Amino acid sequence: MSKKEHKEEIVVRKDLDFGLDAADLPRYWMGGDPFKTRVFDGVQMSFPDGERYFISSVRFFKDRITDPELQKAVKDFSFQEGQHGKVHTDFNKRLKEQGVPVDKMLAVINKIMNGRLQNMSQEYNVAMTAALEHFTAMMAEMFFARKEVMADADPRVRAMLAWHAVEEMEHKAVAFDVMQKVAKVGYFKRCLAMAHATFNFTMHTLIFTWVILGTDGFKGWTRTKMYFKGLWWLIGPRGLYTRLFPKLLSYYKPGFHPWQDPTVHNYKAWLNTFNETGGNALAAGEAMYAAAH
Ligand SMILES: [Fe+2]
Ligand SMILES: [Fe+2]
Repeated sequence: MSKKEHKEEIVVRKDLDFGLDAADLPRYWMGGDPFKTRVFDGVQMSFPDGERYFISSVRFFKDRITDPELQKAVKDFSFQEGQHGKVHTDFNKRLKEQGVPVDKMLAVINKIMNGRLQNMSQEYNVAMTAALEHFTAMMAEMFFARKEVMADADPRVRAMLAWHAVEEMEHKAVAFDVMQKVAKVGYFKRCLAMAHATFNFTMHTLIFTWVILGTDGFKGWTRTKMYFKGLWWLIGPRGLYTRLFPKLLSYYKPGFHPWQDPTVHNYKAWLNTFNETGGNALAAGEAMYAAAH
């Protein structure tokens, strides 16, 4: 790779505490806004199953990896994703208590992912994982580079998302390297998988948010009005999704590699605080947020 590499170490961290068990955690933890909260809730809901899919699709190629550095990266990546799955499963229990039909919704996602694992080539599955890993790394940066996105979030949920963001940035190249160096997926399949992943992710976000808001008791017309207003926040000129676009397009460049993108500027604020406080994930999340532009 000719361009400068911005590589971070993949650190394994276990059983972090964000204080998410607290009874005072608001239902609409994003500044009391049902639409914004439920967009995040809907996206995070499928993380545990998605992460299991990522791990299986990468580990399928485990025995063919000869580079010891990549072997270790796959192991650490799997560990990090396993921890994310645990924390987001706990978060999903909260959603169940709120009446969200989590299991029913996830059954649909699982059917799609299992179908893909059974019917598509393993090369295509690891290409889907690499594409979705690029998505999570992009989101990680978008949520935390600037203060405005997370300004109204409850600090405990924000800290959970900050930790997940940090680890996604640390391991963002693992699935990509397995896809390129071991599974030997070419340019066309990589781009096709990204188009597929983008479509799935968008549909998933819109549908899950709609369903959860329905279980909250918002009727069809109220939800439609929420969508019109909320879509501006997502796809307006300064929208969250709109801002992802340049990074999304960079994945289609033939010589793209995840390490070409610098890590978000406040990553070190998280890391230093986490290390200095002996692993206080809440303090680290707050430090990262405070250091945002
Ligand atoms: Fe993850
Ligand atoms: Fe990941």
